Amino acid sequence: MADNKNYQSHWDQVYNNTEVCRLGWYESTPEPSLQLIRECRLPQDAALLAVGAGATTLVDELLAAGFHNIIVNDISPLALEKLKQRLGGEKDKVRWVIDDLTRPRALQSIGPVDLWHDRAVLHFFNEKEEQEAYFNLLKKLVKPGGFVILAAFHLNGAAKCSGLPVHRYDQQMMAEKLGSCFELQQAFEYTHTMPSGDKREYIYTLFEKNKWKTYNLA
Ligand SMILES: C[S@@+](CC[C@H](N)C(=O)[O-])C[C@H]1O[C@@H](n2cnc3c(N)ncnc32)[C@H](O)[C@@H]1O
Repeated sequence: MADNKNYQSHWDQVYNNTEVCRLGWYESTPEPSLQLIRECRLPQDAALLAVGAGATTLVDELLAAGFHNIIVNDISPLALEKLKQRLGGEKDKVRWVIDDLTRPRALQSIGPVDLWHDRAVLHFFNEKEEQEAYFNLLKKLVKPGGFVILAAFHLNGAAKCSGLPVHRYDQQMMAEKLGSCFELQQAFEYTHTMPSGDKREYIYTLFEKNKWKTYNLA
């Protein structure tokens, strides 16, 4: 998809047409993400950024675990609206950033984060320029000593998600994209069962950014 408006309207339509708990990527509990977040042993005031979060139940879980510096991003205002409705009063504890990860504006100035969490977003970026913009933003925002969780369709997984072609990954491909400042801590394959009963193969990875190297990106 070439322009930002097309991306946004695709995702707004998806969230408009389908109940959150019927979306293919819906998780009643995002267990693999929670497992990796626990491994990071982050304090409750850590800055946690969930990119392309949609209406994920991860935000409910992080709030319940006492985290109180949560930033939630998506390109779709409607997705975030659905999540806000579900959270009720708790929504005021979260910072909301509607922005396109491949042409970031508001995200550029959110400040450094201790955790970047992405499940099922990166794989939509098929163009080299989109991937570059995404990883440049990630490298700029994640603090030295901070963590990155990337979960995407595995190389042997489905070729489409939400009707869109996807770029599939394994852990080496993710490590190459992140570069030498990030060290792989964990990786595992995971089969997600969709509400329809169909299965999707994911690769989950956890990286830690080195404390002693810094980037000099504009
Ligand atoms: C398959 S859903 C996954 C949602 C959520 N991460 C989860 O695991 O439930 C992909 C999400 O990425 C968002 N998205 C797609 N392209 C995006 C972009 N360029 N910038 C920010 N978010 C984007 C969509 O609106 C959608 O909510």
